Amino acid sequence: MIERTLSIIKPDGVKKSIIGEIISRFEKNGLRISAMKKIWLTKEEAKGFYIVHKERPFYDSLTDFMSEGPIVVMVLEGEQAISKNREIMGATNPANASPGTIRKDFAENVERNIVHGSDSPETAQFEIAYFFSALEIF
Ligand code: CDP
Ligand code: MG
Repeated sequence: MIERTLSIIKPDGVKKSIIGEIISRFEKNGLRISAMKKIWLTKEEAKGFYIVHKERPFYDSLTDFMSEGPIVVMVLEGEQAISKNREIMGATNPANASPGTIRKDFAENVERNIVHGSDSPETAQFEIAYFFSALEIF
């Protein structure tokens, strides 16, 4: 089934100048970029995006990190886009990520892990709408 999912290149990925490398991995794996922009979240905007994690011990640190510099937000589209993107990304903690995944290759630790990807159709819908209007997705 063709799905859409939200991808973010987090501030660490932007600082490392690997935007092109990451997008290339998506395209080589059959995911199309249906929408894309570079933005800089405020702390409050980062907290809103990660609201599902508001009770977690890492929420404050995570939202500081996500607002420390610009990010690239994208809508990826393709067959099984949600699970395919999660495969390309690798496990949350790079120590547990498989070889050849983005997080294994580039992430420093469990927080600074380079990319975000929606984890279900419901979260994809919420997360895409958080950043993009229907008129911005092709
Ligand atoms: O991003 P993913 O869906 O793989 O993981 P998550 O469990 O939804 O957590 C969201 C983000 O919080 C992660 O990508 C990490 O940046 C951060 N995190 C953290 O700092 N410490 C943890 N123990 C777990 C997650
Ligand atoms: Mg998640």
